Amino acid sequence: MTKRPIIIDTDPGIDDAVALAIALYSEELEVKLITTIAGNVGLDKVTTNALRLLQFFGKDIPVALGATKPLIKAPIDASDIHGSTGMDGFEFEEPTKDLVLKEHAVNAMRRVLMESPEPITLVPIGPLTNIALLLSMYPEVKEKIAKIVLMGGSTGRGNMGVMSEFNIVADPDAAKIVFQSKLPVVMVPLDVGLKALVYPEDSEQLKGMNDTGRMIYQLFQKYRGGSMKTGLKMYDATAIAYLLKPEMFQVVDTFVDIELQGAMTAGCTVVDLKGYLKQPNNAKVCVDIDADVFKKWFLESLQKCN
Ligand code: BDR
Ligand code: CA
Repeated sequence: MTKRPIIIDTDPGIDDAVALAIALYSEELEVKLITTIAGNVGLDKVTTNALRLLQFFGKDIPVALGATKPLIKAPIDASDIHGSTGMDGFEFEEPTKDLVLKEHAVNAMRRVLMESPEPITLVPIGPLTNIALLLSMYPEVKEKIAKIVLMGGSTGRGNMGVMSEFNIVADPDAAKIVFQSKLPVVMVPLDVGLKALVYPEDSEQLKGMNDTGRMIYQLFQKYRGGSMKTGLKMYDATAIAYLLKPEMFQVVDTFVDIELQGAMTAGCTVVDLKGYLKQPNNAKVCVDIDADVFKKWFLESLQKCN
């Protein structure tokens, strides 16, 4: 089977770790590059986490460091959810820096895209700063991008503000550039992440599954302060689920814009499901997910890991 090439832009992050595990062990995907972005915690920490994961998995994927802060606004983080390291809960070995490229993430993405004989799918699962910089600095890459499948935004309420989701509110100016890029954009929002839940009994299955399952089980003990009873949300894994099993989602074509100025709503995704704004569609938005199919897929996918 020819593998589909992807680039993952990430801020690991416990749910990022799950997404990376599933993507890296998938027989259908070829992860050409991992780029890091300040988000859940600062850039140095998320990069160390990406390297820790790659060393743990024994996967030699190049890693390029991206932006240390958003385009305009002041940085925020989500260390209350993921712990002060961004991936609290498991004692990883200190990773080597052998996989780190000298190029900045934006230049590495440009090179990998331009050298690729076939278009590559970008999978951002953190704030969109690197992707916005790439599209602004090197618009020639657009013809090499198959699509952008991003985890972020919400059709309704938020998880970082009343109306705002973390990845978008962390850099709303970048998000606006991405949604206005005229590229095929798939938004896998909070709405589906809130239903992609892992309960304590699911997590128990991971413990004895394999080394990756054991590692993720331990991370889950610290995710969101260890409050697992109401279900842990596998946000970033839903973007990988869309790539590998899109039929588990209900998807609509619609217009999405980012609120930049709202006194209380800045950083929210305005998803015009009813067409009030009379704008052409610029995104596919996943509005629902079959939670049972997701759960089965999640466990089966992690079974393929070492
Ligand atoms: C998103 O925010 C981060 O904390 C998660 O890693 C995910 O990418 C969910 O809102
Ligand atoms: Ca993330």
